[in-house]
Amino acid sequence: MKFDKSQSLFEEAKKYIPGGVNSPARAFKEVGMTPPFMVRGQNSKIYDEDGNEYIDYVSSWGPMILGHNNEVIKDALKSQIDTAIGFGAPTAIEIEMAKLITKIVPSVEMVRMVNSGTEATMSAIRLARGYTEKDKIIKFAGNYHGHGDSFLIQAGSGALTSGVPSSPGIPEGIANNTLIANYNDSTSVQELFNKYGDDIAAVILEPICGNMGVVPAKQEFLSTLRKLTEDNNSLLILDEVMTGFRVALSGAQSLYKITPDLTCFGKIIGGGLPVGAYGGKREIMEKVAPIGPIYQAGTLSGNPVAMRAGLATLNTLKSNPDIYLKLEENSKRIEEGFLRNIKESGINAAINRVSSMMTLFFTDGCVDCFEKVKQSDTSKYAKYFRSMLESGIYLPPSQFEAFFVSAVHIDEDIERTIDANRKALFELS
Ligand SMILES: Cc1ncc(COP(=O)(O)O)c(C=O)c1O
Repeated sequence: MKFDKSQSLFEEAKKYIPGGVNSPARAFKEVGMTPPFMVRGQNSKIYDEDGNEYIDYVSSWGPMILGHNNEVIKDALKSQIDTAIGFGAPTAIEIEMAKLITKIVPSVEMVRMVNSGTEATMSAIRLARGYTEKDKIIKFAGNYHGHGDSFLIQAGSGALTSGVPSSPGIPEGIANNTLIANYNDSTSVQELFNKYGDDIAAVILEPICGNMGVVPAKQEFLSTLRKLTEDNNSLLILDEVMTGFRVALSGAQSLYKITPDLTCFGKIIGGGLPVGAYGGKREIMEKVAPIGPIYQAGTLSGNPVAMRAGLATLNTLKSNPDIYLKLEENSKRIEEGFLRNIKESGINAAINRVSSMMTLFFTDGCVDCFEKVKQSDTSKYAKYFRSMLESGIYLPPSQFEAFFVSAVHIDEDIERTIDANRKALFELS
């Protein structure tokens, strides 16, 4: 495979854009490669500047659940563009979107549209703090909620301490208000509540973590979080930016039967355009400006073009429940094929999967927490990634990400993916 054009575009991009990319995960740093520059997508395939074709499992990092260049989304966009691109004034499309979300996700009684997942989580946390009149939040090591100051905090070695900023530029005062607990470890959360209970505004988590690779929460863990937050007058915020409308139409909260106070959305809700949303109990959402005192705003929030793409996606998913059965079936086939290959190649690897979110970890045993995730062999992943790419399979360029199966992956894609995985694993063994 040749990457000459991508290589020269990357050199050019680096002159004008930090690191040549508009989001760090795209830089392919962890896998030691130049990122292919993409030009075109059709169904399950994407094509780069050098004419290479890939079966895509990055899916624009989640949104493209219906595949690339989807006709329904395209038609919706075209008709909106013919009418108007945006006003910064209320439109009926926004009501349609809000109604649809509240119908699909019953815990969301009111919803506010924003422009990204980061905006959704930042706004939800402000709301939680304003509503409870408390300052601290609990987040989990290895969970990612976008790049808001309050979230870019990692656990120190002791994990149960106040956060230490993981990026320069985050004031200590903000970091001190983020407490870090261990994912799937109820005791670590209980200890934080014992110590800071009166001052904890919210617990926020990915109910199925995708950002350390896929690690699902245990049912008992989620139930404990629900109880602890209720007992301490704190809010439970589910960050369903990745899982929303993906693991099931009504998200991870429907799989686990957990009712959060607030939910954050992104990715699929925008059908590939920049959209996020946060919503939840009416009583809490009514504290948001202009009816409440907690300020949050956005010039482009609820933009009609973005709403059209999101609505087309959500309506397609809602009216075709078979899509989720197909996603499960196809993803299961991939998982089973990979597991067979792992066994036959003798490689130390494990797979975590929930519906169409999946990660192959280069470590053995059960990967159910951040500590185990960190034991993965990232240099093996880099080699594996490069071999898969060479076979035309486009995976996330990091061990600590989820890969996504879409509704348009066909049998031939799946067979080719399993064959490429076999070749890559045997090369590593
Ligand atoms: C769970 C989760 N929350 C929040 C975000 C941030 O969303 P965005 O990149 O749209 O700001 C992401 C992005 O990957 C995410 O996966």
